Amino acid sequence: MLVCLVLLLVTLCAQGGSGEDAQRPGHVSVVIVGGTGDLAKKYLWQGFFQLYINHVSSGNTFSFYAGGLSPPEKANPVFFEILKAVTCPKDVSQERCALLKEQFLRLSAYRQLKTLEEYQDLSKHIELQLRQEGLTEAGRLFYLSVPAFAYADIAEKINSTCRPTSGVWLRVVLEKPFGHDFRSAQVLATQLGGSLTDEEMYRIDHYLGKQVVAKILPFRTENKKFLDPIWNKHHIERVEIVLKETLDVKGRIPFYDQYGVIRDVLQNHLTEVMTLLTMKLPVNLSSSKEVLQNKLQIFSSLLPIGKNQAVIGQYQAYKAQVQQELNMTKDHISITPTFAAVLAHIDEARYEGVPILLISGKMLSERVGYARILFKNDLFCLENNNNVHCKPKQIVFHFGHGSLQYPAILVSKNLFKPDLKDSGWKEVTDHKDISVLGLPISDYYVHTPADQREAYSELISHIFAGRKDTFISTENLLASWGMWTPLLNSISRSFPRIYPGGVDNGDLLDVLLKGKEISYNSEVVMISNNPMAGMSANEFHVMQGKFRGSEMVSAWAEGLVEKLAADLQEAAEEAVREGGVFHLALSGGSSPLALFNRLSMHHFSFPWRDTHVWMVDERCVPITELESNFRNLHDHLLQHVRIPYYNIHPMPVHLSQRLCVEEDGGAVQYEKDIRKLVNGSSFHFVLLGVGYDAHTASLFPGSKIDPHGESLVALTESPTKPHQRMSLTYSAINQARRVALLVMGKNKHEMITQLSRVKDNPEKWPVTGVKPSDGTLVWYLDYDALLG
Ligand code: BG6
Repeated sequence: MLVCLVLLLVTLCAQGGSGEDAQRPGHVSVVIVGGTGDLAKKYLWQGFFQLYINHVSSGNTFSFYAGGLSPPEKANPVFFEILKAVTCPKDVSQERCALLKEQFLRLSAYRQLKTLEEYQDLSKHIELQLRQEGLTEAGRLFYLSVPAFAYADIAEKINSTCRPTSGVWLRVVLEKPFGHDFRSAQVLATQLGGSLTDEEMYRIDHYLGKQVVAKILPFRTENKKFLDPIWNKHHIERVEIVLKETLDVKGRIPFYDQYGVIRDVLQNHLTEVMTLLTMKLPVNLSSSKEVLQNKLQIFSSLLPIGKNQAVIGQYQAYKAQVQQELNMTKDHISITPTFAAVLAHIDEARYEGVPILLISGKMLSERVGYARILFKNDLFCLENNNNVHCKPKQIVFHFGHGSLQYPAILVSKNLFKPDLKDSGWKEVTDHKDISVLGLPISDYYVHTPADQREAYSELISHIFAGRKDTFISTENLLASWGMWTPLLNSISRSFPRIYPGGVDNGDLLDVLLKGKEISYNSEVVMISNNPMAGMSANEFHVMQGKFRGSEMVSAWAEGLVEKLAADLQEAAEEAVREGGVFHLALSGGSSPLALFNRLSMHHFSFPWRDTHVWMVDERCVPITELESNFRNLHDHLLQHVRIPYYNIHPMPVHLSQRLCVEEDGGAVQYEKDIRKLVNGSSFHFVLLGVGYDAHTASLFPGSKIDPHGESLVALTESPTKPHQRMSLTYSAINQARRVALLVMGKNKHEMITQLSRVKDNPEKWPVTGVKPSDGTLVWYLDYDALLG
């Protein structure tokens, strides 16, 4: 007996707030906290008006409250304006619409909701109204349209003052952001869990209310017979989930700068779409439990997304907008991405190796959102490639905007003619002359919702019906943060590629998929401090600035090397043009290797025939050893280019069978050669690196080399093996026309930070003795070295 009673109670409690109850008519109090804010103004009041219209004759009664922090005198006029602007659907007559609007207005009121007492008063007010009007209460719906930091406090207030009596549902709707990463989402979920049950929480992702997104699972089910054979790695070339926007984030920077595009749209909207496209089809589409389980399965099968699976960008004007909206000085840089392209893979036999691209960005050239499943097409049409069978095979879930302008599901005619059983959808056959993702619209079967409905209105009706399958459960949320947090951490200090915005982006944001990795297609880098408006993609180069009072160029390692190689070639061409010869002194170490490779693989027009290659320094080891700088130079550059042998000048460290012995006169010999061949002993270009101890060339801390001495070459001692070295002196280096200091890698960051602060002191920081007397000095620092 007792067991039965407990079971009955458990069942009743479990039903509290479920869809079943929602159908029981009664009075519903709707409270939008933040009810005069932007979102409420743009979508929420319209959504609730729609709800009111749909249910006014269903036996339900309603009161609507806009809650806010301002006193009523201030908020009332704003609220009134918002209510005045709501509109009726097309099928409602003008008279009826006027009547409905008037009733809606009468049922709506503003209330200041700041303190606990004010929440208490609201609850008392609701109860009084129920008593006075003899109404049965059905539920209370709180919509929190406020910044996330206020959620826990408001939920707590609702819990302690506004809970309805048992049997009446309480639903609290939350807008993203739901945390900043896995940890903070977990903390927020725990905090909210102290006040609300999971059943009571409705976390909104408005993409789940978009008609096309909501149709993904039904579409997959209705067309199972066509899709089952092809929805797998053997047929799918790739999946693209894309949200392109033309607007910037001006006015939203205090929020946006803390979040960026990945947290703003990839972690939620695009991820949700990805799960709907790839999850196992639930047997029962309206079972939120089954939908959730299948979604979670996809999350657990995702391969980790690391740095090499993402590229990020930032529109050029963002920096100035941040400075302005956050009151920052002109040297403040934000590295928050406004563009991201991420490559995901699902480790399941069905999708093995299928690239899933998630892309979104602000200030792109068009506004469009879609998910495209591109299938492999093995057919090669030799003569008639206009035939639809020769064209891309694809299904496009077109969320809206773009050339099409309306939401639709498009299936290319070379795939199959889809079945859309839902009477709410219709086929479109008379088309404008447009193309969608590379195919003329006439090559698709196109289906669109018979009635276009706003995502928020849809979701509001789901909340009212207690349908939880279109909301984000705690498990779903944490699984999604679990997917994104490692990537967010790994790129948290990465520099985004700067793009000019709009059509000027050109091909700057095109991406290349190589195996499991993604990169920008154009290698040319990236960022410019120069706030020149309207710069086109071609003029768009590298971050230029100052370091220790000299010119600095900074970019990602790859881009930096490319820039340095280009500068080097330019210097070579100029020298050859002017004097017929180019004298280049190259240093050892690992940093220049990438440059050597770049020069040999990409600079086929480099004037090697007229170039003399000298060495900045050498280790006193036989030239054939791996430690020899010359051996490295030979292996990575000289053997690959057509340079005359007599233009190559290795340092003579190995004379008379001995290594770097004073009496052999190697240093003196090298100096003589320089004086003889190099005009005024002034190299055109000297490439230097910097060690962890700030040594440069083979000039180490504590070495007795006089920065003002006359000799050009000296024997020196390194603190690390091999100890003996031969090196150009400050005198030789500082006579050069151009000196480049190349520093790359995170492990040089600390040294670079120190160098940015210290005064010149060559004894302690040898590189600070590099000061060309007539020439220029340029620091080439990659972002890892510069920013860590
Ligand atoms: C919001 C983001 O969630 O979605 C915005 O915060 C973004 O930055 C918007 O613009 C996109 O939604 P829609 O419906 O316009 O595609």
